[in-house]
Amino acid sequence: MQVPRLHSDTVEQVKQRADIYDIVSEHVVLRKGGKGYVGLCPFHNEKTPSFSVSQVKQMYYCFGCGAGGDAIKFLMELGKQSFSEVVLDLARRYQVSVKTLEPEQRQELQRQLTLREQLYEILAIANQFYQHALHQPLGEKASNYLKLERRLSDETIGQFGLGYAPASWETLYRYLVEQKRYSVQLVQQAGLIKQRQSGDGYYDYFRDRLTIPISDLQGRIIGFGGRAFGDEQPKYLNSPETELFSKGKTLFALDKAKTAISQLDSAVVVEGYFDAIALHAAGITNVAASLGTALSLEQVRQLLRYSESKQLILNFDADAAGKQASIRAIGEIAELAYHGEVQLRILNLPDGKDADEYLHTYTAEQYRELLASAPLWLDWQIEQITLGRDLKQATQFQQVAQELVKLLKKIDNSDTRNYYVSRCAEILSLGDARLVALRAENLLAQIAPYHQRKPIPIKTQKQQSKDEAPAKERSLLEQAEALLLQIYLHYPEHRQAVCSALEERGLQFNFSHHRFLWQQILNEKAENFSITETQQSLISRIQTRCLQMENEIAQVTPLFHLDEKTQQDLLRATQVIQAATACIERVLCEKQYRLFLELWQNCDPTNEPERSQFYYQSLYAEQKKLQKLDRMRQFGLTDLLS
Ligand code: UTP
Ligand code: MN
Repeated sequence: MQVPRLHSDTVEQVKQRADIYDIVSEHVVLRKGGKGYVGLCPFHNEKTPSFSVSQVKQMYYCFGCGAGGDAIKFLMELGKQSFSEVVLDLARRYQVSVKTLEPEQRQELQRQLTLREQLYEILAIANQFYQHALHQPLGEKASNYLKLERRLSDETIGQFGLGYAPASWETLYRYLVEQKRYSVQLVQQAGLIKQRQSGDGYYDYFRDRLTIPISDLQGRIIGFGGRAFGDEQPKYLNSPETELFSKGKTLFALDKAKTAISQLDSAVVVEGYFDAIALHAAGITNVAASLGTALSLEQVRQLLRYSESKQLILNFDADAAGKQASIRAIGEIAELAYHGEVQLRILNLPDGKDADEYLHTYTAEQYRELLASAPLWLDWQIEQITLGRDLKQATQFQQVAQELVKLLKKIDNSDTRNYYVSRCAEILSLGDARLVALRAENLLAQIAPYHQRKPIPIKTQKQQSKDEAPAKERSLLEQAEALLLQIYLHYPEHRQAVCSALEERGLQFNFSHHRFLWQQILNEKAENFSITETQQSLISRIQTRCLQMENEIAQVTPLFHLDEKTQQDLLRATQVIQAATACIERVLCEKQYRLFLELWQNCDPTNEPERSQFYYQSLYAEQKKLQKLDRMRQFGLTDLLS
């Protein structure tokens, strides 16, 4: 469609109706912050939010990259669309009538806009009709089915707008076309009636089925699912593809789940309509259902828009078919998972139950626990590979090893891959710790044969480690060190603990300004050995001592003050000391790890098998230690890490 030039009235009206918060929050997870909202900027890559939205000003601004403007500008930048395209979309959405500068264009445009509006209207009216029928005598069977077999309350039935499509051939047709006077073409375009193949006339698309309305993200009905009561096939009939409805692009109940997804920062996808309905009814509301198709990238993007940390849990049936379903459903998004772009977890419920069936026997709390412990996609695949296999038998061992290698080859992040190599090596060692190194060696040899490994020059290694979120690591380390110093300066009762934590493990501050301050503290301590003095005096003594060293002291001056957040953090001083020292120790540990990795990579296992094994064992030990330290710092510094 050629984009017309729009009349300024239209632009003005659109501006008035399109609220910046509504528009932006569809694409960015926003949290209340300051006078407005903050979130992660969609226009540049960032880990901490510097993107702000003001409803008062109806503007957005990013302190990180300087992007800013109003709602229209936001959509233009985001979708690389022209001004007119964006205004037209918004006009459609907010039902603003469109005026163009050239009158003849206007009619065609209005026609296209009103088509969609009319389809929405017809679908909404059809839904009212179905809902009404459910409560009539002819809907008794359906109503009993919902209440007795599905155990749904009136409230849930109403909330999801469930209804009944009567059995005869033309009930809805007569209602919409003859009574309500909608044009046959429109009702057909809405996917509600079909033309008879022989002879004239039309018949209802849904007959004698339970109707489940499917809505878009704004909650407007775009289609229906219809469940049969008996053995009629198909069990579920879905609306045909229409101007409004596309099965592969839609997720059922996402409109009702989006708020909870952003609050809980994770999304659950189930297979069936009734799985989603049952979970919502049980109070687990961050749930949407795929409509029996593999998840498309588009669907996943819709979901992840609402989860800041991109957490997605797929709950598919656990029987053999369900496993296949999980793999099939993941289809396109497997790549995202291997690249670490989505944190994908798989939940298979016990006894091959689906969520709806599970909730008949178990509580919502139990379901939540299962969700929380659902394995990551890679762990799940490893489980599937080893499930029911007897590794003590040579052939099965071989098969499993080969499948694991195939899986490991797909992981392209080297840290993740190394981690899973160790995991698989553990599995293949059958509990014999002495075998782990050898198994890992074998796995690695198959993933990347020795001749491919050897040439990795030391430089690239460093480069690699630098690429992986170095700024974040560095700033975390800096914050950890600063916290330790602040604890020392402001909380005399914890000074001994800080000293011991550092001394016991022979740790040093990594940042020169921190080393400088620590040296001043040690000097003070040497001169006035009472370390329980009041905070003022230690800080002011250090300040006096450093009067001549303006430059050095300037960098650490912020540590002499405690802001409110830090005060809060330091209520848990003991944990913070532990976690912060874990951060510092991690630096040492990582160096050791790199060193052994380098030695091992440059050692030929055929010539020097023992040395190669020794290096691998050492690097494996360091890796374990790194994981432990990671957990320790995670535990105490969650806020800083997120
Ligand atoms: P299932 O066959 O697993 O059924 O279909 P279910 O959801 O557990 O159904 P109940 O509990 O017996 O009612 C899973 C989903 O696949 C789609 C539907 O979206 C369904 O919810 N499906 C299934 C269809 O679209 N058509 C079908 O014929 C069957
Ligand atoms: Mn079911």
